[in-house]
Amino acid sequence: MADYWIAPSILSADFARLGEEVDNVLEAGADIVHFDVMDNHYVPNLTIGPMVCKALRKHGVKAPIDVHLMVKPVDQLIGDFAEAGASYITFHPDASIHVDRSLQMIRDAGCKAGLVLNPAVGPDVLKYVIDKLDMILLMSVNPGFGGQSFIPSTLDKVREVRALIDASGRDIRLEVDGGISAKNIADIAAAGADTFVAGSAIFNQDDYSAVIDGMRTQLAS
Ligand code: DX5
Ligand code: ZN
Repeated sequence: MADYWIAPSILSADFARLGEEVDNVLEAGADIVHFDVMDNHYVPNLTIGPMVCKALRKHGVKAPIDVHLMVKPVDQLIGDFAEAGASYITFHPDASIHVDRSLQMIRDAGCKAGLVLNPAVGPDVLKYVIDKLDMILLMSVNPGFGGQSFIPSTLDKVREVRALIDASGRDIRLEVDGGISAKNIADIAAAGADTFVAGSAIFNQDDYSAVIDGMRTQLAS
């Protein structure tokens, strides 16, 4: 079986108790913390930045932090997030004029690098930078908000990108983000994803362990 990772999106957590929420979701079995950064420019919403990432590290969070940048421009934030303790930094190629340079900046800063494709964006952009990628994140909703419905055409893209990753022979996580729950996670895994972002499906329930266990049961089936 693939090495599946569950990545709770803290966008749907209680921000007034964020440290505790992250501790609880990790205790419940999450593998990696998905950290959504929105700038009210690239997407029509505004969230959190490097100071909050740093505060989570100071609070004692040891798990990998997966920073999903929905910002334009990208480069100014890379050093700040690396310094704040980010593990992965991913960005949208349409938000950076020099995609290869931004990826190299992330790697030079000591983080793992990734690209994020919106629902209408094809995988062509991946081809010439695949040697600089540690993660590919496929959006299964339009970015900006939690709680939206999974866009089914994402499954074809997951299959296509899985084939690209396998052909490259590289160790690249294939993550999917948006509208994921125990109901559809098995289909997304069957298409070739190995990392699953879930915000509202986890944080809108009282028992995080029950939700994550339910997802793992589906992944094992
Ligand atoms: C959307 C964010 C997602 C979002 C997922 O722009 O990138 O990470 O929080 O939330 P759910 O799981 O509720 O769709
Ligand atoms: Zn995200």
